[in-house]
Amino acid sequence: MAYDAAHCPARFFHLNSSNARAKAVDLAVDYDTRPRRFKSLPSVTRVALPKGNFNIQQTLGEALRSRTSTRDFKLRSLPLARLSQLLYLSHGIRGLKTVEGEVAFDRCAPSAGGLYPIELYVATQQVQGVPDGVYHYDARYHRLEEVVRGNRHAELAELTIGQDMIRTANAVVVMCAVFQRTMWKYGSRGYRYTLLDAGHIGQNLYLSAGAMGLGAVTIGGFFDAEVNRLLKLSSDEDALYLACIGQHDRPHARKAKRRPSTLHK
Ligand SMILES: Cc1cc2nc3c(=O)[nH]c(=O)nc-3n(C[C@H](O)[C@H](O)[C@H](O)COP(=O)(O)O)c2cc1C
Repeated sequence: MAYDAAHCPARFFHLNSSNARAKAVDLAVDYDTRPRRFKSLPSVTRVALPKGNFNIQQTLGEALRSRTSTRDFKLRSLPLARLSQLLYLSHGIRGLKTVEGEVAFDRCAPSAGGLYPIELYVATQQVQGVPDGVYHYDARYHRLEEVVRGNRHAELAELTIGQDMIRTANAVVVMCAVFQRTMWKYGSRGYRYTLLDAGHIGQNLYLSAGAMGLGAVTIGGFFDAEVNRLLKLSSDEDALYLACIGQHDRPHARKAKRRPSTLHK
């Protein structure tokens, strides 16, 4: 496909969400139409998570040096504290702060305008004290909210177009976007910002998993509508990016077995 706006929808979007001096940047926001800044599921089973902290032995230099994608997971049970720590370090709430005169969440990943459009969901398998299932991470209270009971890893391997490493992973974290949280303020450019936000969280997942001796690989290829359905997302939310987390026998392995990049559908 030619990379010009007439033939390529991505190029068309990119140009139409570009800032240019000839076009005034619209800074007006309508507070009456502002979406909620967090999500909680009403009346569902909840799993409390152990308190998160920043007690990590590995230095940042070591975590960066050893960061790699891992796909050869060994399925064995994972302490809940590990999953808790992973969620806290990647997208937990450290506290509150002020952004542009407003109280906002304070988190380990940056977010355009402090609006945090990404919600995390996690499919669990053999996590101690958690029935296998799919959960929403309620970051405000650092707890899991049950979405679907039962093991969904085989289904997720199929929905990611055959990425079988999911079958032996303990957790598949799905980064989902509530685009309107950011587009409400930044319009179409907010769409770009939301994807960038997810990238930051993805790197936090890689580095914190590695620092805890776990393996991680992110996944961009999946059947979107079907993953959205599995997570029971509302129509204003979309799955964007997955991270598969599991255990392996090579602590801080530098090189993982690679899949051909042509498989990233
Ligand atoms: C946006 C994005 C999408 C990716 N999608 C997949 C994927 O669908 N399947 C997979 O096995 N790896 C996927 N990866 C991992 C890359 O293949 C991997 O990062 C790359 O080969 C470099 O290897 P390294 O992470 O070990 O340094 C993805 C990475 C990114 C950043």
